[in-house]
Amino acid sequence: MLRNFAFAGQSTRGFDEAWEQPWGEYRSVRNHYNELTVRFDEKNWDKRRMTVVFRVYDDGVGFRYELPQQTKLGHANIADELTEFAIAEPGEAWWDPAFEWNREEYVYNRTPIEQVGTAQTPLTVRTVSGLHLSFHEAALVDYSGMNLRRVGGRTFKAVLTPSSNGPKVSRDTPFATPWRVIMIAPDAPSLYRSAQIILNLNEANKLGDVSWVKPMKYVGIWWDMHLDRKTWNSGPKHGATTEYTKRMIDFAAKNGFGGVLVEGWNKGWDGDWFGRGFEFSFTEPYPDFDIAEVTRYARSKGVVLIGHHETAGNIANYEKQLGPALDLYQRLGVPAVKTGYVADAGGIQAEGADGKIHFEWHEGQVMVNHHLKVVTEAARRHIAVNPHEPVKDTGLRRTYPNWVSREGQRGMEYNAWGEPKNPPEHEANLVFTRLISGPMDFTPGVLSLTGKNNTQILSTLAKQLALYVVIYSPIQMAPDLIENYEANPQTFKFIKDVAVDWDETRMLAGEVGDMAVFARKARGSDQWFVGAVGDEQERRFDVALDFLKPGQRYRAEIYRDGDDADYRTNPRSIVIEQKVVTARARLAMRIAPGGGAAVRFVPIR
Ligand code: NOJ
Ligand code: CA
Repeated sequence: MLRNFAFAGQSTRGFDEAWEQPWGEYRSVRNHYNELTVRFDEKNWDKRRMTVVFRVYDDGVGFRYELPQQTKLGHANIADELTEFAIAEPGEAWWDPAFEWNREEYVYNRTPIEQVGTAQTPLTVRTVSGLHLSFHEAALVDYSGMNLRRVGGRTFKAVLTPSSNGPKVSRDTPFATPWRVIMIAPDAPSLYRSAQIILNLNEANKLGDVSWVKPMKYVGIWWDMHLDRKTWNSGPKHGATTEYTKRMIDFAAKNGFGGVLVEGWNKGWDGDWFGRGFEFSFTEPYPDFDIAEVTRYARSKGVVLIGHHETAGNIANYEKQLGPALDLYQRLGVPAVKTGYVADAGGIQAEGADGKIHFEWHEGQVMVNHHLKVVTEAARRHIAVNPHEPVKDTGLRRTYPNWVSREGQRGMEYNAWGEPKNPPEHEANLVFTRLISGPMDFTPGVLSLTGKNNTQILSTLAKQLALYVVIYSPIQMAPDLIENYEANPQTFKFIKDVAVDWDETRMLAGEVGDMAVFARKARGSDQWFVGAVGDEQERRFDVALDFLKPGQRYRAEIYRDGDDADYRTNPRSIVIEQKVVTARARLAMRIAPGGGAAVRFVPIR
């Protein structure tokens, strides 16, 4: 395939169109590119044909391979993809190792480009001349996920995720591969914005009216289990009881949260569920969880129940029950489900064409197809989906806007467990890597700043608030225990006030892995929010407020690190103050080591 193709023609076109997101970081997204399509014919008797399409943007490039329908290639078994990326200049890379047991959930490495091994995407690079690059893919559909292996110097080769079938991808023609994307920007804030390319390279919304997809904040029976205070399984410490769920519903209703997530409601958690999952039922609740009563009660309080399907990576079991499981939620008015695929990498259990169980990877073609099946089946029933241990995000929320969020990196749960906890720079890394790919269900806002056995989370209090603005997701959890929110009413207020859906997003200042300062305008509102996070060092920023409406006065409700705040010694030190500002003012702040800042701007009428 590699060398035996001859140029057979080319065409070009330009495209420029703005489109609207039903929900997102930006209401309007401009899709502006020049396209080159190059056709190749095989020179030998087979005469197989292939097309390569390039789309060139002001801040990046995408290309993909198209295999048209043809008699000599009715079906393609792809053993490997030979795409290579060679980075001209030396520089630093932020990367997550690929093909390791814990899937995407590794602390980021920051190394010279020449020390990268095999990386997941997005792989982000800053070269010596200050060029910021991120390598990723868009529209990963019926194909296997791409990782990047350094094959010498600064050259990387695509490594497709393996499949138990043999070939990494198996498909009938015609088809196109996912887009291979390089985002290219002069600085860190523009790199973040260039991620719009990922959305632009996806197809338009296929679901029609999606007003039933509701961005929201939610609480849940969740952190309790990660702290070992309650259990998913049945027994004296069972978390998902009717009674406790009603308490959560009351708390949600009282504080303006839209949903209550309940994990451990269904049969199958008893014993060692991890990596097995044959026992999970997605329709039978435990006897102490009256699902009809709980959903009725929620409705009476104007709150929804958020469903949960933990599969333990056993998609054979899940797919058998998928229809009835989603029907149950639809019948009960459960408009969203969090799914889960807890299993070691390569430990997905799927039913093959032979009716036998085969082991697959979380980002292989089988799982890529599984996720889209769940998303489209859920969409038919007006249910939104939020997978944990997911396939990476490649912008498919544009095409399927009920695919609202996902995990896919180390979230807050790591701060509940033992060591190592998420390092102070974790979120400043996420912004320019994982979050380039799309929304993350990180679950910020642990105001106790403690995990299991009173272990300390490596964050200041102000930073927990900042994360709601910094980490984009149209669904944001407030995971901490009710008592911890009730004990911190002043800081909890910000979590109640902050928006989750935006008209506009701007990164006001940022450096990969060091700091990120965001301003976001709430969707359909005149309020703006600023969120800033740093790393383990003290950071400072001084930014113009020229995003505010000229001439308008705003009350700035500021939550910043106290002057003596430090995640090691004084994490709870916070200053909460108000100022009147206009678009002509500036906002200058110190971010403590491990710290952050959050500001709400409310127009004064
Ligand atoms: C891992 C998920 O990330 C977490 O949120 C969930 O509670 C557990 N799996 C159990 O499903
Ligand atoms: Ca997880």
